[in-house]
Amino acid sequence: METVDLLLAIFHHVLVFSLAAVLAAEVVLIRNEMTHRTIGRLAGIDRAYGLLALFIVIIGIARVFYGLKGWEFYAYSWTFWAKMAVFVAVGLLSVPPTIRYLSWKRQAEADNAFAVPPTELASVRGYLRAQMMLFMLIPIFAAAMARGYGQFG
Ligand code: HEM
Repeated sequence: METVDLLLAIFHHVLVFSLAAVLAAEVVLIRNEMTHRTIGRLAGIDRAYGLLALFIVIIGIARVFYGLKGWEFYAYSWTFWAKMAVFVAVGLLSVPPTIRYLSWKRQAEADNAFAVPPTELASVRGYLRAQMMLFMLIPIFAAAMARGYGQFG
C-alpha cells in the first residue's frame, strides 16, 4: 500500500536524521571539558542513540517487508547488504563508548573528585570519529540500493 510505504519512509528519514544529530551531539560534547554534568548529558544522549537505533532497525525491516518493492528487491541487492554491514559496524563501534559513559557516570556519582582519564577520553573520541566516518557511507549505499544498483541473482 502506498500510504504505508510513505509513512514508513517518513519515519525512517526522521529517525535517521535524528540519529545523525545525536551522534554529532556526542562528538561535540566529548570535546568539552568532562565535568560531571557533561558526563550525565553524554549518558542521557547515548540512551537516545540506542533507542533511535532500535527504532531504525524496526522501521527499516518493516520497509523491507511492507515497502512497495517487495523483500526480494533487497534480499538480492549487495548494496542493501553493504548498508546493513556498515550499520552493524557502526552499532558495534558504539558499544565501547556506551560502556565508558556508564562507567564514568557511576564513578562520578561515587566520587566528587573523579576526572575522566585522558587515555579513556582519547579512545572514546576515536570510536566516535570512526562511527561518524562509517555512518556517511550508509546514505551512499541507501541511494544506490533504492535505485536498483547492486542487484544479483
Ligand atoms: C536495519 C537498518 C535499516 C534497514 C533494514 C533499512 C532499510 C531501508 C529500506 C528498505 C529503504 C527503502 C529503499 C527503497 O526506496 O527501495 C531504505 C531507504 C533509506 N535508508 Fe535505510 N535502512 C536501515 C538503516 C538506515 C540507516 C542507519 C540510515 C542512515 C543514513 C539509512 C538511510 C536511508 C536513506 C537515506 C534511504 C532513502 C534512499 C533513497 O530513497 O534514495 N537507513 N532503508
